[in-house]
This record gives sequence, structure tokens and C-alpha cells, in this order.
Amino acid sequence: MVTQNRPAIPPEQRFDSAAGSFYLQRLPISSPRNLQAWDAADELIHDYLVANPDIRRPLLINDQFGALLMPLADREVYSVSDSYVSHCAWHHNLSLNQLPDRLQALGPLDPLPATADLVLLKIPKSLSLLEFQLAQLAATLPAGTPIVAAAKSKLFTPAVRELFQRYCDQAEVSLAQKKSRLLQARTRSVTIDSEHFVSRWSVPEFGFELLHHAGVFARNQLDIGARFLLEHLPPAGAADVIDLGCGNGVLGIGYGRVSPASPITWVDESFLAVASTRANIAANLDADSGHYQALVDDCLSQQPDQSSDLILCNPPFHQEHAVTSHIAIQMFTDARRVLRQGGELRVVANRHLAYHQPLKHLFGAVRQIAANPKFVILSVKKR
Ligand SMILES: C[S@@+](CC[C@H](N)C(=O)[O-])C[C@H]1O[C@@H](n2cnc3c(N)ncnc32)[C@H](O)[C@@H]1O
Repeated sequence: MVTQNRPAIPPEQRFDSAAGSFYLQRLPISSPRNLQAWDAADELIHDYLVANPDIRRPLLINDQFGALLMPLADREVYSVSDSYVSHCAWHHNLSLNQLPDRLQALGPLDPLPATADLVLLKIPKSLSLLEFQLAQLAATLPAGTPIVAAAKSKLFTPAVRELFQRYCDQAEVSLAQKKSRLLQARTRSVTIDSEHFVSRWSVPEFGFELLHHAGVFARNQLDIGARFLLEHLPPAGAADVIDLGCGNGVLGIGYGRVSPASPITWVDESFLAVASTRANIAANLDADSGHYQALVDDCLSQQPDQSSDLILCNPPFHQEHAVTSHIAIQMFTDARRVLRQGGELRVVANRHLAYHQPLKHLFGAVRQIAANPKFVILSVKKR
């Protein structure tokens, strides 16, 4: 809650709702100020909580920066997200509000608490992730456990409503308020086959056999930007390589194929991306060689200074529903710190994304390695 004796926090980071006043920051802290850490759907859930004060063991799903968590911090609360950045934001914002941190934070592959007495769910961008989450709830929670889902009205598409009909009972969508809606339902007991949520496909021209968990970028085919970068990889021999924002891991796997002696680290903020990458390393490289690792991180926040000679990156241009370049810029800034003198950052990007300027600002000279009508490949070196 907002209390005295704290550093000044900009008013646009103050979330006033029926449940109280909270300071909420997005991560990374460098996020643009016009992007808020909460939305009107969070406000509807706060209204619901005020009308239903007896919840003791809430289970939160996809709470991006902790807007749902703040009024529930004193309960036996579990929160699940695929995003490591969200996990960091929950603890950060609890501390910012001087609230107790008894949170049980879970990744999407962790077992769910069967004792939850209410599920609060924000609709994710990925339909496959939503289906996986609803199926997990149906398989784990006692039938009849209440679920309250919230999102902007436009996200309650026919496909989203159909998933709730498939995995829940009594699903009812509210009228729109502030362009957002609540969906209230009860869990239905459904047996699931976890293989249904894993997709597998091959890329014969590169000899890749790939596995994807739900929600991971480019789930059904090789991304065309990634394909272009795979056709223009740097020569073999880099001593320490990082695949930054690795998704299914294809860029690092491509480099590992041409340079089997190079140690490679794959990094993504998505737990499911890192799990997919680990499976793909095992299926496509000599995983016993001991010089491969895949880690969850926010950009390169946990990587030591001057520890890499080559960073490959196909950067994201959105954070869930928000279109933004700040994550890409954070990746470039971290890459500059983590590269050794003379080390290279090689980036593939849509032509319309203006990465030339920030790269020039950070590194100096920018070399264009290749271009096609849609993409460009840019290379910068740490001087
Ligand atoms: C455009 S996709 C590229 C995936 C893969 N490298 C490819 O080329 O197919 C960008 C990836 O960046 C990841 N990402 C987003 N924000 C991140 C962050 N803060 N730290 C690390 N990875 C992040 C996303 O989860 C996503 O997998």
C-alpha cells in the first residue's frame, strides 16, 4: 500500500482501485512511461475482490506485474506465469509497497496447488498457452472451483470463449466496463494428455527436429527472420556464444552445428521457451559435450561483464499485448556490457523497426550483413 517515507514515485505509477492504492512499476525499469503496469481488467478484478472478501487461497495466473497480487499479499497466494520478468516484478512491487512477501511463485510446468479456492486469470496473448493453462486447471483443481478471467473486451474472441466452454462449466461473460470484461466460470474435471500441448516439426533444409511447448514463439514453423539469420551466421570459431531471446533455440542450434567446439548459452525470459530449447539441444546437438546451457533471464541481467564473443539475437517487439522496442534496446545495452572487446552482436530485424540508430548510439559503426524485402541483418562490434 502507499505509505509515508519512501522515495518519490511518479504519479503515473500509482494504481488507485476499489481495493486500495498501490505503486506498480513495469520491468525492466527502463520501460516507457506511457506503458502502465496495470489495465482496466485488473480494476475489474479488484472490484470483484472487494465484493468477495473471503478468499483465502487465491491462485493467480498471468499477473503481469503484480496488479492482482498486491491486494492479496496477506493471503496464502500462489502466482503462476511463464514470464521470468513477471516473477521479478511481483517481488519488486511487493517490496515497493512494503507488503509481506509470502508469495509462492510458480512456473507453468510446476504442479498447481489443488487447494486454491479461487483462480484469477488474465487472458494471455497466446491461445495455445491459454488452452494449456485451462487444461492444467481442469486436471488439477476440484471440479467446481471458481475461475474469474479478465481482459480487454476484444480479447474475448470466439476462440477464447470456446476454450472456456471446453474446459469449464457455467462460463458467463460480463457486460463491458471500461472496454474490459470478466468471465466467471467453474472448473470442470477433464483428463488431459500433456503431449497434446507440445508441437513437434522438422526443418529439413537445416536438419532440425524441433519441439515447442505451448505459447513459445514460432510454434508451428521456423520464423522467417530466424531463417534469414540462419542463412547468414558468422563463421565458426567464436569462443563463447549467446543466443539472446532464444525461443525454441534455433539460432544457437544453427551455430552449434557449424561450430561444434563453441560453448553456447541460450537465454529467454519464458520458462517454456527454455524448456523447449533444452529439449531441442538434446535432439539436435551433442548435448553430452558439457558446453551448452539454457537459462531463464531478463535479457542478460545475470550474465557477467565481458564474457561472450558472439551474441545472436532476433529481438521481441512486444511485451504481451504491448508493442514496444524497449526490450530490444535493453538487450542491445546488455549485449554491449557482456561482449568482450572485439565481440560481435548480430541482429535480425524487420526492416520497419528502427534498430540502426540505437545500435549506432551504443556501439558506433553498424554493418549491414544482408537485406531482403522484409528483414535486415545488422552486425556491431564492441570496440
Ligand atoms: C522474436 S522471438 C525470437 C525467438 C527465437 N530466437 C527465434 O529466432 O525464433 C523473441 C524472444 O525473446 C524473448 N524475450 C522477450 N523478452 C525477453 C527478456 N526480457 N529477456 C529475455 N528474453 C526475452 C521472447 O520470449 C521470445 O522467445
